[in-house]
Amino acid sequence: MKSTNLQLIESMHDGLCATDLEGRILHANPRAMELLEIDNYITQNINFFYEIIHNPSLIERIRAGVASPKGARDLECYLKSLQGNSFPVILTANYISDYDGTAHGYLFLFKDMTDLKKVNDRLIQAQKMESIGQLASGIAHEFNNILSGILPNAELIKMTTDDASTKARADMIHKAAYRAANIVKQLLSFARVQEYDTLERLSLSEAVSETLGILDKLFGRDIRLENKIPIDLPALEVNATQLQQIIMNLAINARDALEGSGWIRFEAHVENVAQDRQDLKPGDYVVLKVSDNGCGMSEETISKIYDPFFTTKEPGKGTGLGLSTVYGIVQNMHGAIEVESTLHEGTTFFVYLPVAADKPIQKTSEQSVKSADTFHHVLIIDDDLVVREMAGDLLDFLGHKIVKAESGEEGVNLFRKTPDQFDLVLVDLIMPGMNGVEVMKRIRAIRPNVRVVITSGVGQKNAAREMLNKGADGYLQKPYSLDAFRNIFRDILRNSEKNA
Ligand SMILES: Nc1ncnc2c1ncn2[C@@H]1O[C@H](COP(=O)(O)OP(=O)(O)O)[C@@H](O)[C@H]1O
Ligand SMILES: [Mg+2]
Repeated sequence: MKSTNLQLIESMHDGLCATDLEGRILHANPRAMELLEIDNYITQNINFFYEIIHNPSLIERIRAGVASPKGARDLECYLKSLQGNSFPVILTANYISDYDGTAHGYLFLFKDMTDLKKVNDRLIQAQKMESIGQLASGIAHEFNNILSGILPNAELIKMTTDDASTKARADMIHKAAYRAANIVKQLLSFARVQEYDTLERLSLSEAVSETLGILDKLFGRDIRLENKIPIDLPALEVNATQLQQIIMNLAINARDALEGSGWIRFEAHVENVAQDRQDLKPGDYVVLKVSDNGCGMSEETISKIYDPFFTTKEPGKGTGLGLSTVYGIVQNMHGAIEVESTLHEGTTFFVYLPVAADKPIQKTSEQSVKSADTFHHVLIIDDDLVVREMAGDLLDFLGHKIVKAESGEEGVNLFRKTPDQFDLVLVDLIMPGMNGVEVMKRIRAIRPNVRVVITSGVGQKNAAREMLNKGADGYLQKPYSLDAFRNIFRDILRNSEKNA
């Protein structure tokens, strides 16, 4: 070989190994030595087949391929370094032959695919999550409507009956429906459809110490919780409850992985993400790192952990909704979550959280809460009979006067007849014909200062924020509860008195 060719091979970005017919490495270029973690192939006496490729069927395929005219080209497979680290490659093998065609050994050429595979995996993961998200949100939507009929009715029966056994039964229905509503809520947060979440400037280190304070008592003495989060990190702009959900879920999963004893470590640093990541906007992120020395996960498990209802835990122990909720929340925050795990050694989750823009946030001023709800006229517009009746009953129960309409068109007509009669319009966002936003526009054209609350089972993501931006005075997520109703009415009517 001419020396220029040799230099080329030595400086090549791909790994190259020449072996004898047994597979013993006779030469490795620097890149191969780096990837395979070889110090000295002459003294180490390494067999490429048995110590690097391992997989018997793959070895078989290579031996057969090399002997055939097509050769063994571009095989997608994994190689293992001498230290036992496995990594994805594209591998090509050829005979090293004489001029007369006698084979003396093999030439292996391999390209490290680790980075490319990561990008590809992220893409596949994102696509998978997108379609599961659609499915989940569809199911959640249906169940939400059903629960809208059950939950408030049970609540009403409980509050209005004097019969103890009826009360007890209604309470059981209420509790069961409430549990179902909670699952739906988790599914919705996975599908990124959330109730209006208020963003606050928060310190990660405070949020973590607060949550760990609670967990420390629950986890027992053999589990060491280490909080190594620096206190001088930039503030986050996130929802406090959601941040706590992230921390809790990761900590509890780590606790489960420890199977009794070990450590869980919380760390964080600031990372500037450049243009090259498709899943994150360029900018500064606080990266929360949660690691444990627990059981770890197989590749197979890792590929499913964010799926709703995927769990490896016994029935009753895991719901499989923890990480899917975290995934949804993180997406909603425009962040990202990543995981690294080694079976029997441990797991590390990395959560990219957006740093707050450098502006002080407005705190809503404390307002005095008026205890008695005064009575008001409310126009309810909803195409779903059960929901319409339910909302009517609840408002009636709270002492308001109700008029109902079953379509946007009917609602607008009713409003037009006596615009000054109504204090508030409660309208469903998604209806056939005229939708909630359109209704709001029409009735505001008739009387600009009328209060409008938009309700929805499942809207698009950030429905609440969007509705408020579009000018609604409030947003109510179905299924309604008496409390949610009471609160939103109290807030809006209080504001209307203030502004009057
Ligand atoms: N820190 C961890 N170590 C090992 N496995 C984990 C860890 N976190 C999550 N997992 C795996 O991911 C699965 C899904 O987690 P999650 O969505 O929280 O549901 P659940 O905890 O109810 O099983 C778990 O069942 C477990 O197999
Ligand atoms: Mg969990």
